[in-house]
Amino acid sequence: MNRTSDTGAGPPPRRPGDTPETPLATTRRPERARLPGRAAWWTITLLAAATALLAARYLTLDPEVFLEEQRAAYLARLTPLLLHIGGGTAALLLGPWQFVARLRTRRPAAHRIVGRAYLVCVAATAAGGLLLVPGALVPPIAPIGFALLDVLLVLTTAAALHTARRRRFDRHRVWMVRSYALILSAVTLRLWLVSCAALGVPFDLAYASAAWTCWLINLLLAELALAHGFFGTAVGAEAGSVIGPAAVRVSADRPGARP
Ligand code: HEM
Repeated sequence: MNRTSDTGAGPPPRRPGDTPETPLATTRRPERARLPGRAAWWTITLLAAATALLAARYLTLDPEVFLEEQRAAYLARLTPLLLHIGGGTAALLLGPWQFVARLRTRRPAAHRIVGRAYLVCVAATAAGGLLLVPGALVPPIAPIGFALLDVLLVLTTAAALHTARRRRFDRHRVWMVRSYALILSAVTLRLWLVSCAALGVPFDLAYASAAWTCWLINLLLAELALAHGFFGTAVGAEAGSVIGPAAVRVSADRPGARP
């Protein structure tokens, strides 16, 4: 059995938790081919971290930092707000690490622990988000957009859990890409609002459209990335992750293999 490392320094030593029954192919993508994946990973990770940092101000529970138009609505729903933003910021920060194949292959136990934490965070942000929907701005367009986003987040994440439990790790990865793309709608929403403000679009129009475009754009990009094999598992193909690592997992995606 052979394995290559990210750094190209040769096969890393086997560690506790590594799975001898899941041999890894030694196919290496040339450095040039890995650069777009790395650049995308860093861009997403930094944008997610910046959005999490921005949203974390809500955790102070200081009404002065709340969105001015929604101060009263949020004060009336402090518990859902805390659940929503606590879960959302953590999910934003945890998600990127689950796509690093080097971590998945070398630290499968950590991948499972972070994965469970991500599920709890998604449950919290979805539950809180759903309770915030009735008070959302620009009804009914924005609340309907947020409600659909909420349902899709729950469905995609449940599918990711279901496929992991059934050891269909190729499908699991696809559903996790969709789930995290939906979590990243928090980033797209803010970028959309900032762009609309810069273009002089009236706030209500910007906000109502943001509640839809924030997840439609992300889902579209996720599907394009999946279709082009950006995550290694072009649907139906047994191959490994591209984001970050060089190691290409083959048999780990088969039913019965471990993540
Ligand atoms: C992906 C599913 C999500 C849904 C369905 C959702 C839904 C909502 C809803 C309905 C509101 C109230 C909007 C209003 O008052 O008009 C809201 C506000 C908010 N959400 Fe989310 N959200 C999601 C993801 C996230 C994530 C991942 C974060 C993490 C940063 C986040 C952070 C916030 C913040 C900070 C607010 C307060 C308003 C603001 O300052 O922008 N949301 N969300």
